[in-house]
Amino acid sequence: MTERVQPPPPCRLVIFGATGDLTRRLLMPALRNMRRDGLLPADFALIGVASRDLGDDGFRQHLREGMQAFKGGAGPGDIDWFLERSRYVSGKFESAETYRSVVDGLGRDRNALFYLATPPSEFAVIARQLGKAGLLKQSDGHWRRLIIEKPFGHDLPSAVALNREILKVAGEDQLFRIDHYLGKETVQNILVFRFANGFVEPLWNRDHIDHVRITVAETVGVEQRGKSYDATGALRDMVPNHLFQLLSLIAMEPPSCLGGDALRNEKAKVLEAVHSFGSQDSHHNAVRGQYGAGSVDGKPVEAYRRSPDVAPESATETFVAMKLGIDNWRWAGVPFYLRTGKALARRRTDITVQFKQAPLTLFRDTPIERLPTNDLALHIQPEEGVTLRFGVKVPGPAMLIDGVDLKFAYEDAFRRMPSTGYETLLYDCMLGDASLFQRADSIEAGWRVIQPILEAWQREGAQGLSIYPAGSTGPQEADQLIARDGRHWRPLIKDEGQ
Ligand code: BG6
Repeated sequence: MTERVQPPPPCRLVIFGATGDLTRRLLMPALRNMRRDGLLPADFALIGVASRDLGDDGFRQHLREGMQAFKGGAGPGDIDWFLERSRYVSGKFESAETYRSVVDGLGRDRNALFYLATPPSEFAVIARQLGKAGLLKQSDGHWRRLIIEKPFGHDLPSAVALNREILKVAGEDQLFRIDHYLGKETVQNILVFRFANGFVEPLWNRDHIDHVRITVAETVGVEQRGKSYDATGALRDMVPNHLFQLLSLIAMEPPSCLGGDALRNEKAKVLEAVHSFGSQDSHHNAVRGQYGAGSVDGKPVEAYRRSPDVAPESATETFVAMKLGIDNWRWAGVPFYLRTGKALARRRTDITVQFKQAPLTLFRDTPIERLPTNDLALHIQPEEGVTLRFGVKVPGPAMLIDGVDLKFAYEDAFRRMPSTGYETLLYDCMLGDASLFQRADSIEAGWRVIQPILEAWQREGAQGLSIYPAGSTGPQEADQLIARDGRHWRPLIKDEGQ
């Protein structure tokens, strides 16, 4: 998170998987927004690499169509700016020939960013070939960096193996493992909220906090991603990366500074301190569900098992909820409840920190039976802001107390330009600032936490998988998971019971 003052140094961006969905939906819009905000160097060029036989002109046409379909950027002129700077290499990722063409396209002594926007099965192959072609060698003050998309591995052993493989050809300082949640303003704001406000830190511990809830609810189903999603599931897709990033930022100790490794060291320590799941815990403290037929936003949704490329008897989860504990002085005894799912009633990502209740003693001779809870909610998306819930006296002669919200919404306070979250990440990468990227140890620590659950679910197949209707708030078992501790999720929809 470097001060935004200057465009980065001249560089080439080489995107592997340049004709794919990620490039079209997120990377190109992000690059246009960066151009709008002056975050790209004047001497910038893009090289797309993919297997489709397009040629430079065909690729430019493909980019033009993609860019026209998305809002943002500085205007129509900037599309041409990109096209003039774009070239295409068609070839197989495993073929040395492809990399010779990339070498030719780059020219000598250039700063270059290699973006692996491909299926994860290609990551190791591309890294190996880049290494063999000498493309990751840094010399004469020029840098070479590798951006790797998620998921990084599909379990602990494969993540360890992938890290080992990639570290053979590049140094850790050349690696930028992306988790796009870290590019979101509201995610970065967790850090600012906690550490730039003096009143927060003294309360941020087991003495004052009762529990924490993290929800990442999506209305989208699996759509056209059936093939890859069916082999992945909600646990792998969302938890060791996005949810654990949120967890780490909420639970970490203050780092000594924002740059370098200080921030990443503290985040890694949180995951290392998460209680390991035993096989009993995997049953007791983790819940999985899969959406059945239903309707979302008034539109009918077919059952997950009937989606294209999904096995008709699939036991893949599209919803997961879990209860975690963090074994350190700050958090001992404070439960963290996490849930995420697809095809739910509402899209909402938020974190609620619930403070311990005040004693009722003072009010014991009044009609008041319960004090309102003090919840601090950090709204990540689509609402962006912060809400603090506290008790106030209801006007009138009787002593009655109600809970009200003190609200801050980003849109009321700041002018917001469209952004994908990738702008910050690409910019930081061009500057060589890795603080918003995942380090090998955090990735492995994340997998380590969920590995016992993965194994238990693998063993049990569909047994224990609960089917919830699309458009609902998820399986009842997720409500029971938290209700047995006398707590409840922040309601996803208005009339959902407290
Ligand atoms: C991706 C997951 O990493 O994040 C998707 O693979 C998920 O399944 C997406 O839909 C959610 O991202 P966002 O930014 O919409 O919350």
